[in-house]
Amino acid sequence: MEQSERERAIYLDPEQPIDKRVEDLLGRMTLEEKVGQMCQYSGFSEEREVLVKEGRVGSFLNVLGAEDTNKVQRMAVEHSRLGIPLIFGLDVIHGYSTIFPIPLGLASCWDPDTVRKGASIAAAEAASEGIHWTFAPMVDIARDPRWGRIAEGAGEDPYLGSAMARALVEGFQGQDLADPDTIVACPKHYVAYGGAEGGRDYNTVDISEGVLREIYLPPFKAAIVDARAGTIMSAFNDLSGVPASANRYILTFILRKEWGFDGFVVSDWNAIRELLSHGIAATPTEAAKEAVNAGVDMDMEGDVYQKNLVRLVREGEVSEGTIDEAVRRILRIKFMLGLFDRPYVDPERASQVIQSRENLEAALELARRSIVLLKNEEDLLPLKKEIESIAVIGPLADDRDAPLGSWSCQGNPKDVVTVLDGVKSRVSPETTVRYAKGCEIEGASTEGFENAVRIAKESDVAIVVVGETREMSGEAASRSSLDLPGVQEELVKAIYETGVPLVEVLLNGRPLSISWSAEHVPAILEAWFPGIQGGYALADVIFGNYNPGGKLPVTFPRTVGQVPIYYNHKNTGRPPSSDRWSSKYLDIPSTPLFPFGHGLGYTEFEYSNLQINPKRIKPSGKAKISVEVENTGDCRGDEVVQLYLRDVVASVTRPVKELKGFERITLAPGEKKTIVFTLTPEQLSFINRDLKRVVEPGIFEVMVGKSSEDIQLAGSFEVKE
Ligand code: NOJ
Repeated sequence: MEQSERERAIYLDPEQPIDKRVEDLLGRMTLEEKVGQMCQYSGFSEEREVLVKEGRVGSFLNVLGAEDTNKVQRMAVEHSRLGIPLIFGLDVIHGYSTIFPIPLGLASCWDPDTVRKGASIAAAEAASEGIHWTFAPMVDIARDPRWGRIAEGAGEDPYLGSAMARALVEGFQGQDLADPDTIVACPKHYVAYGGAEGGRDYNTVDISEGVLREIYLPPFKAAIVDARAGTIMSAFNDLSGVPASANRYILTFILRKEWGFDGFVVSDWNAIRELLSHGIAATPTEAAKEAVNAGVDMDMEGDVYQKNLVRLVREGEVSEGTIDEAVRRILRIKFMLGLFDRPYVDPERASQVIQSRENLEAALELARRSIVLLKNEEDLLPLKKEIESIAVIGPLADDRDAPLGSWSCQGNPKDVVTVLDGVKSRVSPETTVRYAKGCEIEGASTEGFENAVRIAKESDVAIVVVGETREMSGEAASRSSLDLPGVQEELVKAIYETGVPLVEVLLNGRPLSISWSAEHVPAILEAWFPGIQGGYALADVIFGNYNPGGKLPVTFPRTVGQVPIYYNHKNTGRPPSSDRWSSKYLDIPSTPLFPFGHGLGYTEFEYSNLQINPKRIKPSGKAKISVEVENTGDCRGDEVVQLYLRDVVASVTRPVKELKGFERITLAPGEKKTIVFTLTPEQLSFINRDLKRVVEPGIFEVMVGKSSEDIQLAGSFEVKE
């Protein structure tokens, strides 16, 4: 385009409304350039430089650092015909450089406000280096801890999952995408990816419409409809016979018609080409046609749109209207992000934003809030800071890699504060801290046990830090066993046998079947992969500078054979009982090792005065539930007050309980607070036999408690026409 024409172009005029700019630009584009906007590639190369200059790339992922994003952006903006800026995407999942706890840990905070703040920090750091778009949050519900990607989401519950989805999207996107500190979110993987059979990644998902709509869709709806995420990623999996990335029902009917989504859909990595392996397309051309007609706007790394869409349009197999619509959606987001008006970043700014003191403090706070005290017999914790000697043992005690978890962007192991660092920083100068690795995370060698046992015997208390490597969870990291890998459990046993008081700290990406520890070890802390400040956070909890208040967002099974085990299950015709002919396993109790919502602290909370108002409502009415909670212990602490509901009799079977409200509160000793929940018709509704969402008349049981099992108060109300 001539310089003078550029100056006159509506699409380059920041004063013009976005829709007008989009239409003006679309009208100037060739079919090749349009298809180019729909193509995304990972990493920059010389071969791609040509494509960029020809205007045949819309986006890159995995181009890192301000210098590189600026360099590649310049090629598009200054050397392509229309100068359309690229949108740079990256998996900014739980921090960019300041790494926070993994998403499962963030969910353990049960604290959307703090989580939102974490996401806004991640966004600002990423944006400062030229990233515009994160492939997050992962809002897949996961009921199977064998699935490694359980680490990347909010766990098993759609209500908690929706709250986290909203908080994360709001945090990333802020008030205005054009703000230089915000990035556009991309909830993923749409949809039901977490339902993979056997917990094996990428595996088949075959579920009912009720389960789709009540379990897997709600966090997506929260992200798209409530929090207005600008993009969404279509999943790898086959969904009841139609792979998600070719599934018109979910991508167009539900997403666009029901939810009114006007952002764009990007496929997961190569997911369009994988339609061949799924066996619903015989050639890449067919795959491209299936995906674009289903509603996938951008092809991530598959090169299938690039090679086929122009021809498909020329041959009349795909309408140019479909292409225009996809390009419109992509351009709209680019305009909203302000890319046309400010395509580059100032590398100087990054140094001010990244790992600022404020950001590190937020990482510490999130890590503290995410820690779950699973067990604390005889108040072993908190330990006294003046204790004479401590043994810090275990393969994860001084590991700088694992705490970053999967997807750590620009996170650097050298920034990680380990548990050993944390303990040393928090004890009094007189305390002796001894360290022994004991064993590796994996492998059979017990050579290090002797030394570990020796230092435990010489100390007043032992802290054993065990768990998983960071490669054991995340994508393509399913496990068939939920046990501690290698000889770590033997290490825990060896230290236990010394008789020294023992604290077990878990760093891991999924629930683990730690039945032996749960029975024998007096104090257990679940810290997940807690991010770069994790060591300080754990030490604060261990020594009582911080009173833990995290709760499990997912059920811990006794053994892998119990999986799938989740709290909001159906009752069955023969609920588990002492009766031989009931729904149970012969060799283990029916209950989980630690239930959903479980987590202890150093103080006591008393629940009283449950009020349900009114006791009878219409199907369109609302019920108010209130409860008083008092800190009756002797230190300040957090409680997550949880509200569960059961629809006792309905036209289809309903779960034994479902989370419908929660609030994390902090109370000083003696302080009392009234918590009020409002139940809306939406929260009482379900999908009936005709696949319609309805509220049916009848009794609803109300349960309020400290976990899904530890119900403190119960009552009921009735829905009546
Ligand atoms: C594949 C993963 O499934 C997805 O979550 C991720 O965003 C993309 N790769 C891009 O890295």
